[in-house]
Amino acid sequence: MNDQKKLTTASGIPYYHHEDTQSIGPRGPLLLQDFILHEKMAHFNRERIPERIVHAKGSAAYGTFTVTHDISRYTKAKLFSEIGKQTRIILRMSTVGGEKGSADTERDPRGFALKFYTEDGNWDLVGNNTPVFFIKDGKKFSDFIHTQKRDPYTNCKSATMVWDFFSHNPESLHQVLFLMSDRGTPYGYRHMHGYGSHTYSMINAKNERAFVKFHFRTVQGIKNFTAGEALQMKGEDPDFAQRDLLSSIDQGDFPKWILKIQVMTEEQANHHSFNPFDLTKVWSQKEFPLIEVGQLELNENPSNYFAEVEQLAFAPAHIVDGIGHSPDKMLQARILSYPDAQRYRLGVNYEQIPVNRCPYLVNNYERDGRMRVDGNGYEQPNYYPNSFDTTKPDETYIRPSEVLENHIADWYDRNGPGENEHFFQPGTFYRDVLSVEEKRSLEANIIDSMSGITGPKREEIINRQLCHFFRADMALGIAIAKGLDIKVDMQQH
Ligand code: HEM
Repeated sequence: MNDQKKLTTASGIPYYHHEDTQSIGPRGPLLLQDFILHEKMAHFNRERIPERIVHAKGSAAYGTFTVTHDISRYTKAKLFSEIGKQTRIILRMSTVGGEKGSADTERDPRGFALKFYTEDGNWDLVGNNTPVFFIKDGKKFSDFIHTQKRDPYTNCKSATMVWDFFSHNPESLHQVLFLMSDRGTPYGYRHMHGYGSHTYSMINAKNERAFVKFHFRTVQGIKNFTAGEALQMKGEDPDFAQRDLLSSIDQGDFPKWILKIQVMTEEQANHHSFNPFDLTKVWSQKEFPLIEVGQLELNENPSNYFAEVEQLAFAPAHIVDGIGHSPDKMLQARILSYPDAQRYRLGVNYEQIPVNRCPYLVNNYERDGRMRVDGNGYEQPNYYPNSFDTTKPDETYIRPSEVLENHIADWYDRNGPGENEHFFQPGTFYRDVLSVEEKRSLEANIIDSMSGITGPKREEIINRQLCHFFRADMALGIAIAKGLDIKVDMQQH
């Protein structure tokens, strides 16, 4: 009576010699026939898979979403169908620019990616801890991310690249102010809000569409590190956010967020004072008040990081009945990008990995491919239509048609209302949202970061960026110019 497990090879063959390789005599050279040595070394050599191209460092936990308020007038999505309804979720939070081994307290936006395992399939809401983003066209994304990563010559991070990009792209200013405030260094993952960030849509049982923004408000309260504290924590515990999330859940202190939505009708969207699908702008909460929907709770840690977090795959493409995309150009670009990245990172059958697998019915005619492990449709037909199986597309899932413009445009309408206006909302953020202390932190963090700009273009980059600060708010511009010791000709601003 022994409940000890036998040691076996990957093919299940029990064996004894785990630490000694067969050799010719106790001191002799090794024998090629010791296949267990080959198996161990070969598997080890293949342990690494590509890290995510962005958001490589992150932490995840399972939990529950519970509906507390009825929003069926906006959506027929089954997960919102009745008060009290619960849906299992997994939430992964992350930094953006750093590698898989980078510090959790780096100044960066934080990812806030949710997978709802709904009976109508998995719904992925892949947002950040900020309601806006640096750019509003996906064609700029790879250029932008290159500036957040390493310089091709020095292989170091570069303030010059970062501010060169920001100064050339004034639409980034709103997000830059979030990033440079203490919100750019949140105290772990539990004390920050989450946002869907983009405009999505909801479709109700009458097939009426409304546009929505998703807000997840932390119940733990907002808490940030100052720049100095974040730097210190980087040395003391680079995995601070991972440890903090894991231990709070292990101790039964389950983090929670309240989901609220803002709703804009199609009519309001058509006549709004600026493009409501512009990801660099927020919707006024006075005009579009927050409507409470439900509560998100994290209550279960993954049992294995690689299996359930590294292999986790989210895609803005994955929306369920009752939820829709919007004409947001960034969102449209993201619809394509994520599954493409995951086919490369995890393989074509990545949806079958247990953490990504829909726990309800999956039934289609996609077959074969590397690492197909789900029975591959067994003996069922692999084409449609056919005379043998009972599969029939369900017409209750037909999406309502959308009215669209009918001309091709590969540029922004710079003359469209607000399209080229990047300064009003950042100015409001600086003046009305930040406290006096937060303003001083923001200014100090910008001055510190911009002091790292080097090289022959230093002055040009600083001056270009200073103009953006001045346009947002005079006091902000003056504070930064003073901190960088730049003489300003006020006539110019
Ligand atoms: C067109 C612009 C964008 C492109 C092309 C893009 C592309 C990507 C790619 C390829 C990944 C890695 C996916 C994987 O390997 O699993 C990723 C991860 C991520 N992106 Fe984006 N992204 C864009 C904009 C955004 C925006 C605007 C947000 C937030 C509002 C965002 C949030 C995230 C998050 C949270 C993750 C990590 C998901 C996880 O935890 O696995 N991205 N992005």
